[in-house]
This record gives sequence, C-alpha cells and structure tokens, in this order.
Amino acid sequence: MCGIVGYIGNENAKEILLKGLDKLEYRGYDSAGISLLTDEGVEVFKEKGRIAVLRDSIPTAADGHIGIGHTRWATHGVPSKRNAHPHQSTTERFTLVHNGVIENYEQLKNDYLSNVTFNSDTDTEVIVQLIEYHVNKGLSVEEAFRSTLQLIKGSYAFALLDNQDQDVIYVAKNKSPLLIGVAEDFNVVASDAMAMIQVTNQFIELMDKEVILVRKDGVELMDLNGERKEREPFTAQLDASDIEKGTYPHFMLKEIDEQPLVMRNIIQQYQNENHELVLDEEIRNALLKADRLYIIACGTSYHAGLVGKQFIEKMAGIPVEVHVASEFSYNMPLLSERPLFIYISQSGETADSRAVLVETNKLGHKALTITNVPGSTLSREADYTLALHAGPEIAVASTKAYTAQLAVLAIVAADLAKAKGKDFGFNLLKELAIVGTAMETICGQKDELEKIAKEYLETTRNAFFIGRNVDFYVSLEGALKLKEISYIQAEGFAGGELKHGTIALIEEGTPVVALATQSSVNLSIRGNVKEVVARGANPCIISMQGLNMEGDRFILPKVNEVLAPLVTILPLQLISYYAALHRDCDVDKPRNLAKSVTVE
Ligand code: F6R
Repeated sequence: MCGIVGYIGNENAKEILLKGLDKLEYRGYDSAGISLLTDEGVEVFKEKGRIAVLRDSIPTAADGHIGIGHTRWATHGVPSKRNAHPHQSTTERFTLVHNGVIENYEQLKNDYLSNVTFNSDTDTEVIVQLIEYHVNKGLSVEEAFRSTLQLIKGSYAFALLDNQDQDVIYVAKNKSPLLIGVAEDFNVVASDAMAMIQVTNQFIELMDKEVILVRKDGVELMDLNGERKEREPFTAQLDASDIEKGTYPHFMLKEIDEQPLVMRNIIQQYQNENHELVLDEEIRNALLKADRLYIIACGTSYHAGLVGKQFIEKMAGIPVEVHVASEFSYNMPLLSERPLFIYISQSGETADSRAVLVETNKLGHKALTITNVPGSTLSREADYTLALHAGPEIAVASTKAYTAQLAVLAIVAADLAKAKGKDFGFNLLKELAIVGTAMETICGQKDELEKIAKEYLETTRNAFFIGRNVDFYVSLEGALKLKEISYIQAEGFAGGELKHGTIALIEEGTPVVALATQSSVNLSIRGNVKEVVARGANPCIISMQGLNMEGDRFILPKVNEVLAPLVTILPLQLISYYAALHRDCDVDKPRNLAKSVTVE
C-alpha cells in the first residue's frame, strides 16, 4: 500500500507535494520521493524513511511547477533509497510513481527488456522502462503509456512525467485508488482526497482501466484504447470527523483497507535485528513455564483465539484451551498444574474478560493480555501485554484488530516453537509480508465482492458459512460479521456437522458460503457443498489459489496455508459490509451494540 501525489500549475510544486505526502503517510512510510520538472530537466529526490527525512534532504532552492511524489509501503524490493519511487527509464526521459502490484512484471521484463540494466528491484521500474521501449518503437508518449497499460496484469495507480514536456502528467488507474483534484489554474493527483483537500475540494474520480492527461488548465480522460470520455468533478465533503476516515464512507471500510498496513506495522514492531519476529524475553519465559495456555476472550477476539490455539499447538506443540470469557467466569474447568492465561481483547476493557482476569489473579496465575490498547484495564491488570499496533478501531464490527490478533498469535507460536527447537517449516516474517500483499489484492477486488453480496445476500433471511479445520473458525467469524452489521441470521458450522441437524434449515436458494483453503480437507468440504446443493442451497465457494475448482466464486491469492485465516476473512468482511450497505443498515454503529462492552 503506497500513496501518490502530483501537481501541475503555477506554484512551487515541492511544498504542495510534500504536504500531500504527509497526509498519505498512513498508507506506508518506509521510503518516499518526489520528482520535479524544470527547464533544466528532471530532478529526483528520494530517501529511505519518513516524509520528514525526505523533506530535510531536498535543497530549499529546488523548484518546478510540475511534479509527482510517492510514499512507499514496500512490496517488491526491500525498503531502501534505491527502491524508493520515483523510478526512471534508462535515458531518464520518463519518471514514474506507482501504487499497486504488477503481477506479470517478470514476464514483461523477459519478453521486452532483456537488454535493459535495472537500477532497482521493483516491479515499477519495469513499467517505466516499458514506456520508453514503446516510445523508442515510434509511439507517441500517450500511445506508449496506453500500450504498456494494456500489457499489465495487476493493480496500479500511476503518475508519469516526460522530461520533454512540462505541460502534462500522465495518470492511470486499475484497482488502486486515485483521484484528480481540479481547480482554476492548477490540477493535482492524489491517492486520497485528504492529501489535497487543502488546495481544492473538487475531485474527478478515476475508474479502473482509465487514463487521464492532467494539464494546468484541464484534463483529458480516456479508456485504454484512447476513446475520450467526460466526467464531472464531485465536491469532497470533508469535516473534522470525516478527515479521520479520509474519503471513506465508513470507518469499517477504511479499517478493512488498513489491514495490509497493520501487517506491516506488526512486522516492524516485532522484528529483531536479525529480521526475526520475536517476543520479549520475559514474556517468552513466562509462556514456556506454563504446562497449558488458557485463552480467554469474547466475540471476534474469541474467534481469533480459536485460530491462535491452532497456531500454538501445531507450531510449538504447547496445549491450549480457548474459552468464552462469560462462560469461564461461572463454570471454570479443571485447570492444569501450571496454567498461564492469555486475554485477547481489542479494547482491553471488556467486562466479561476482566471478570476472569480478576479471578485468575486471585488464584495467583500469570496473565498476558493481547490488546490494541496498551494501558487499558486488561493490560494494566495482567502481568504482561502484547500490543496489536492496529491503530484506533472505530467501527463497532472488528476487522483489522482480528487480523492483527491472528498475526500476533502467529508470532507467539513461532517464538515459542523456536525456543523449543521446533521447526515449523516456514519463515513467518516473509509469509506475513506475503499475507499483507494478498490482503491488498483482495481490497482491490471490492467491485466483485459487492456483486457477490448483492447476488447472495440482498434479500435472504439467513445464510450459512461452512469450513473444515481452521476454515471452520473463520466461518464463525464470517457469520458474526454478517449478522452483526446486516442483521441477516448467519451461522458458521464445521462442514461435516450440518448434516447432523442444521441441514434441515436449507431451502431453495439458501446462501451457503463454503471456505476451501486447506489442502487436507479440500475434497471433504466440496463433498459438504454437494450435500447442501442437493437440498437447494445457493453455494458461494471461496477457495485458495491452487485449491480452486471450476465454479468457485472467489479465489484468494495464495498464501501459506497455516496463515490462510488472515486473508480468508477479508472477502467475508467486505461481503458483510456491502450486504449491510445495500440493506441500509448503519454499518459503523449497528443496532444494540457498542465498541467496548464494559458490562458483564
Ligand atoms: C465483533 C466485535 C465483538 C468484540 C467483543 C470483544 O465485531 O467487535 O465481538 O470482539 O465484544 O471485544 P474486545 O476484543 O474489545 O474484548
């Protein structure tokens, strides 16, 4: 996830670009850069680190009335000055910034650019070189830009400068957000209106696979074939509280979109100097002393706990029990000799969980809280805290906190496994980074997920979610998301369990969302789908790339199977969001609920 900006007009572009990048820093901040065009040619400034580092590195004299800028969240190539955007073609004629992931960049490199020497490890540089390649073949810059876009598979928001033309910024978009801010004698480009709201509130929305030539005194919109189009600008209504959610209509949607960045934050916060994801030594030692871990939580956090049990038992070989807090308080099971309690809570304030903590503290057992709010009651009253680093979660329906909880639980499992000398077979840091990229891809498929929500959930009274193995736990969370914000009665089941009773509820057209991300049970879950289809159900199979079969409705990008829940939940969150939206529900504040439940 990256942010891009552009400016063309009569002012010094540098300050406007830097201020815009400041506002986009929430989209990524491992490196940043800007590029300015002047009569002397193009100047590129880039640095590893925050926008402030970039700002300090740019000479005050740097000037130019046209420029582009970028703040990066690394996908291809480590965060470094070399990989920071903008990227340039070999002759330095073209300069490009990009937000997105080019899936076929290696293929394009092999097919067209085998003689080119590259200066970075990024997918973006391939694109800027390809534009120059097409211009060298005799195409105009606009034709070269469009021809290049036609070859790309993946997501992008691009802004391109040609140092032989100070009158235009070439811009295009597919699946990554992009807006053009318009005004009397200048125009701007931004990933998000917030970045440019200080200079204009008039924006033109760009649709997927559209190109726009942005000039000082106007814009020219077209499709990839050069067919011209017209579009009126809209007025961005941003007030103080909207600014918190940017141009998003709801906090829930914003928070769903923030999940790739949250993965990134967690990786940064938990990695040591050897690039391993590790726990504080004191916490590790306390966990290792226990003969059994007891996870206590409610709602979404409880569902995260179920997946966490799987991580810890399978990766580290330590037995784990997961309990709903409100039950545990009044019906405590027999405890092992040396238990340690893990409280999972986004808010850190949930009364049901706190009631258990009070009890286990009285019994003298050690406690660890995993929370988004260090300093909250559960954090203060437990012996240890692990932070989620997800940023404030405002929407009542928990989204980014759930995936953050899963990521932190995976780190707990990996750290304990390592301490016990167990090889769980993958590099967690690398696989979590892949999860972040997969999440971004899913967030770029909102149109498709909105269609699924319409098709399956617009008028239904009820819906079922099924899965086997860890997909069962995700089905519970998927059903909770749907019911709490759309008020559709939704239930999650283990795939094999429906036939023991609940299958009686399947009628003609009943939606059944089936999850298929685990190779060991791929065939069995499909057998369960056949059982419900035979009774009239309308199946929506969500499978992992590589396990997908004909007729599957949504294919998740491939990630390590153990970590699949971190991506499987995203389409379920988005389907729930759109189902609620189409039913005119108050998405961020569903009826009868509160963000932090401080009564038992
Ligand atoms: C559902 C949701 C709730 C919370 C539950 C526990 O979207 O947000 O189910 O997960 O109320 O809250 P925390 O995690 O704050 O203890």
